[in-house]
Amino acid sequence: MANPGSSGSTVAFVYRGTFVHSTPQTPLQILEDALLGVDTDGKIAFIEGGQEVQRLSQIFGFSPSEVIQLGQYEFFMPGMVDTHIHASQYSYAGTALDMPLLQWLNTYTFPVESHFKDLEFAQKVYSQVVRRTLRNGTTTACYFATIHTDASLLLGQIANDLGQRALVGKVCMDRNNFVKHYKETFKESQDETYRFIKELSNKKYPLVKPVVTPRFAPSCTEALLTQLGAVAKNNNLHIQSHISENIEEVELVKELFPASESYTDVYHKCNLLTDKTVMAHGCHLTDKELALFRETGASLSHCPNSNISLCSGILDVRNVLNHKVKLGLGTDVAGGYSSSMLDAVRRTLDASKVLTIQNPEHNTLTFEEVFRLATLGGSQALSLDEQTGNFEVGKDFDALRVNMAAPGGPIDLIQYEETKILLEKFLNLGDDRNIVEVFVAGRKVLPFAELRVE
Ligand code: GUN
Ligand code: FE
Repeated sequence: MANPGSSGSTVAFVYRGTFVHSTPQTPLQILEDALLGVDTDGKIAFIEGGQEVQRLSQIFGFSPSEVIQLGQYEFFMPGMVDTHIHASQYSYAGTALDMPLLQWLNTYTFPVESHFKDLEFAQKVYSQVVRRTLRNGTTTACYFATIHTDASLLLGQIANDLGQRALVGKVCMDRNNFVKHYKETFKESQDETYRFIKELSNKKYPLVKPVVTPRFAPSCTEALLTQLGAVAKNNNLHIQSHISENIEEVELVKELFPASESYTDVYHKCNLLTDKTVMAHGCHLTDKELALFRETGASLSHCPNSNISLCSGILDVRNVLNHKVKLGLGTDVAGGYSSSMLDAVRRTLDASKVLTIQNPEHNTLTFEEVFRLATLGGSQALSLDEQTGNFEVGKDFDALRVNMAAPGGPIDLIQYEETKILLEKFLNLGDDRNIVEVFVAGRKVLPFAELRVE
C-alpha cells in the first residue's frame, strides 16, 4: 500500500469498522463504520466515515480493496496506559498480600528487588512482564525497575525490542533501615541516575524514555530528593514516586520531614511536582494537597487492586477529578496482584461503588468514565497525550483490536448487542483472548512475531 497519492500522502494500512475512544469532552465516543488510516510513521492519517472510502483512497493513495474490514463483533479501542507498575515485582505477583505497606516492603519487596543485580534474573522477569502486559493490552507502561542501573537499562531494551511504549525508572533510595544491603549512598544514587539517563537516552529508542524515580519520601534523604528534582528539571524529564498510600506511611513522613507542612509539600519543596510528575496512590491526600497537585500539573495514578490488597485505603477518584487533577489507572504490580489493566478498570469501579455504599451521596464513576481513565486519562497523567490516548489524527496508532466472539473466549453473546454494551461487557468480562491484535505506534506488536504463523 505505501504508494503516494495525489497529495503525496502515504498510508501503511487502513481498517474499516467500529472504533471506540474518549475525548476530553466525551468519555465514550462510538464511531460505527469508520475508516482509519495509519501512515508509514505509525501515526493516524485519517479517521472518517466509511462512505468516504473512494475520496480518501485518492488522497492517501490506497486501493479500497486493501482496506481491512473488522468483523461484526469486533472493534478497535485505544491501547491501555498502565501509569504505575513495578516490573521488578512481577515474579511474586499474586502472593504476599498479607501485610500492610511498610512491613510488606521490608518482608517481601526489598529482598526480591535486591536480586536484580543478577542480569540473567532481570532478563527473565523483565521479558515476561513486558510480554504479559502487552498481551493484556497495555500499550504504554510507566515502570519502576530497581536500584540497579544495568538491569534498568535492560528493561528499557526489552520494552523497545518488544515494541511497548514505556517510561522506565531506575529506583533511587539512600535510606533503608530494614534491608540494609538494598540501598545506595547519596553519591551512588546521584551518579547512577546520571549514568542511567545518559545511557538510556543515548540508545535513542523512539518509544522508551527514562523517568526520575525517587522510591518515596521515607526511603530518600531530603538531599537526594532535592538532587533528583534538579536532575529532572535540567533534563526536562518525567518524575514518578509514591505518595500518601497508607496512614502509617503518612505519619512516618511527618516524623522524617518535620519542617514540611504535608507529604505533598515534601515533594513540592524539592521541585518534584511538575506537569511531568505522576504520583501513585494519594489515598489520604487532603483537599489542600490536591490543590497543590492541580497548581503544579502533577498527576495521580490510582491503583485500586493494590490499595485493597494491602489494606491501604480507598482513593476518592471523584474528588480528585472535581479538583481537576489529572488521573490515570495503575496495576501497581505486585502490591496489586494483577498485571491486567482490565482488572484495574474493574477494581476502580468496585472502589467507587464501595464509597457509594459508605455514602449514598457519592457520585459513582460510570464505566465510560473509567474507560477514559484507562486510556486517555493515563496518557494525560503521563503527559503523553500528544502522542497517544485516543484516535485523534496525528497521534500514534496505539490500539487494541477486540473480538468479542473470539473462539474459546470468555464471553457468550446470546443476541445482537449494540457497541456500547459490547464495550461494557469487554471491560467487565473480557480478557486477553479477546485482544486479538495490539498496535503501538502503528507496529503490530501482538501476536508476537516469533509466534506468528506466516
Ligand atoms: N511505596 C514505596 N515503595 C513501594 C512499592 O514498591 N510498592 C508500593 N505499593 N508502594 C510503595
Ligand atoms: Fe507502587
